[in-house]
Amino acid sequence: MKPTFAETLRCPACLKEHGLRLHTMRVDEREVREGVLDCTACGATFPIHRGVPELLTQPPEHVLAEAAGLARFAEVMRDAGWDRDHIRRLPFVEDGYWYPQARSIHQLLTTIPFRAGDTILDVGSNTCWAASHFARRGLRAIALDIATAELQGLYTADYFIEDGSVFFERILGSMHEIPLASSSVDYVFCSQVMHHNDGGSLRRAFAEIFRVLRPGGRLLMVNETLKTVRDRRGVDTQTVLHTHKAEEFDGYEHAHWAWQYRWAATRAGFYTEVAEPHYRPFFGDAEIGHPPGASWLSVRLREAAFGLHRFALARRGYLVWLNDVWGGVSMNMIATKPSRYVVRHERLPAAVRIPLMVAAGSRLRWERHRGQDVPPRLSRTPEQAHARMRGAAEPAGDNSD
Ligand SMILES: C[S@@+](CC[C@H](N)C(=O)[O-])C[C@H]1O[C@@H](n2cnc3c(N)ncnc32)[C@H](O)[C@@H]1O
Ligand SMILES: [Zn+2]
Repeated sequence: MKPTFAETLRCPACLKEHGLRLHTMRVDEREVREGVLDCTACGATFPIHRGVPELLTQPPEHVLAEAAGLARFAEVMRDAGWDRDHIRRLPFVEDGYWYPQARSIHQLLTTIPFRAGDTILDVGSNTCWAASHFARRGLRAIALDIATAELQGLYTADYFIEDGSVFFERILGSMHEIPLASSSVDYVFCSQVMHHNDGGSLRRAFAEIFRVLRPGGRLLMVNETLKTVRDRRGVDTQTVLHTHKAEEFDGYEHAHWAWQYRWAATRAGFYTEVAEPHYRPFFGDAEIGHPPGASWLSVRLREAAFGLHRFALARRGYLVWLNDVWGGVSMNMIATKPSRYVVRHERLPAAVRIPLMVAAGSRLRWERHRGQDVPPRLSRTPEQAHARMRGAAEPAGDNSD
């Protein structure tokens, strides 16, 4: 970790913000590799090892079991040939599991108006592939996970940072007690992480993410495992790496209904918007393909149905159908902490928080209507994102092609 990073941390023992003091033992050209943090309020001490501050205190049994399972899984990956080069190519590798991740990060990097220097927290970062892409984009990225094992945890970050091409911070800690000061990050990203919660801890995780986001900040949740009418189990516990039973690795996996993710976020105080998965051709920028040997009639019917993607209402309806009934997709959601939210009210109960959120939302719409400087609406479709990027790249009035 960089020495200045200590200032943004929160003591996980007594919850005092900005109170951790750094004692350096070994530094390299990038960061403090070994050291200790001690809390000026409660005196608790926390080691820093391989650049990672260890701020996971008294985790529940299932968190410890999951972290140990990931260390075992890392060995399986190593035996299956995973190495530094393979990790550095993630998520752009030829594998069905990685396709939605690749498409989702592309979707975010082309639709979210990130500014260089914005801070983004990658919750449940695992190999840190996403943190590395955000850092490359010029964001100040922070990876948070409960696991450290190389190939399945925070020490994998060294594969990305040791050549000096990018840098991002790593924290060993839990999404249920995020060891960062309140209102200290602009974005939180999580990919396939929120379903590692039961109903109670899901609420806690959203509340913590809400706390660490600054007003106006956004949670970008992608590829969450869903329960649907057709698939009431949701979680795939079959096999991993085509050979091992998923249960062997003690993952704390729970699929939730789309409305449960949304309601847990709303209770925490967020405005929520379910985002379209661009990896499905209907929502993306690809043309529809047809199975070999498809009849003339089926080709025409498929094309007519695909043509509906031009209508916003059809897109909404199809998204609800997929997310709630048919499945075969994972859930993407963008949750915004109201920009007019008064920070001192952060520990309010949901019954008070929701009316506050509605009031802040009405104010936001009113101010946008009056043309005041408020956070912009996000692009929904690849076409809107493309138009907006061109608009940003071209000087006003320049319509040349
Ligand atoms: C399925 S992996 C997803 C990893 C990564 N985001 C990706 O898309 O490749 C879930 C990750 O969440 C982490 N995780 C589970 N419980 C957590 C908690 N309480 N706090 C932080 N991370 C947690 C796990 O250690 C694991 O790395
Ligand atoms: Zn303390």
